[in-house]
Amino acid sequence: MGILLSVICIILSLLTIIIILKINTLKNIEYQKPEILSDKKILIVYYSNGSNTKNVAQNIHSITDGNLKEIILTENYPKNIFKMSNLVRQQMKTGSLSKIEEIDISDYDVIFIGSPIWGFSISLPVKAFLKNNNFQNKTIIPFFTYSGGACKNKILNEFKNFTNTKEIKKPLFMFENGIIFTKEQIIKWLNNI
Ligand SMILES: Cc1cc2nc3c(=O)[nH]c(=O)nc-3n(C[C@H](O)[C@H](O)[C@H](O)COP(=O)(O)O)c2cc1C
Repeated sequence: MGILLSVICIILSLLTIIIILKINTLKNIEYQKPEILSDKKILIVYYSNGSNTKNVAQNIHSITDGNLKEIILTENYPKNIFKMSNLVRQQMKTGSLSKIEEIDISDYDVIFIGSPIWGFSISLPVKAFLKNNNFQNKTIIPFFTYSGGACKNKILNEFKNFTNTKEIKKPLFMFENGIIFTKEQIIKWLNNI
């Protein structure tokens, strides 16, 4: 019993040290505009069913000063989360995508694209956006929010398969709403793109 308590105490102490170190590295972080964003026309496009992806998109917008656009559905999902999840599951099975309003990307060089993760995959509205547009000569920077399971490599490959540009930069995977230091985590990612 005594040994078990000591092990638990050591683990808790180590976790506390790791959290403090992480907080300290994020606390004083400053945005250093990466080369690929210099003198570029930047668009931040996102879909958000709740508000997590929207929150990350708004932070990217406030840091990079691009244009912010939301992917709007022409047919909304049911508000009830169980009905919505069932419909999404059905659509995924049949391979059908959400119906969305058009977004003109022709003016932009760099496009941040944000999606929640649905069924270990890109959300269907964002898949529709990727399918509807031509990304030749565009640089794409994906970002995602999720609640537990992301299958990051699979999702990145999906992104590559849906677009025709090789310029896909390092994505951000943000656990739900980032929990703490959302903006600082985003700056850290942007500084290293
Ligand atoms: C239909 C549906 C499927 C989801 N599937 C996953 C999943 O496979 N893995 C995961 O980590 N989170 C999953 N989630 C949780 C969302 O990815 C997460 O809550 C996200 O931050 C929601 O973003 P939003 O608030 O911008 O809509 C799912 C949510 C919904 C509604």
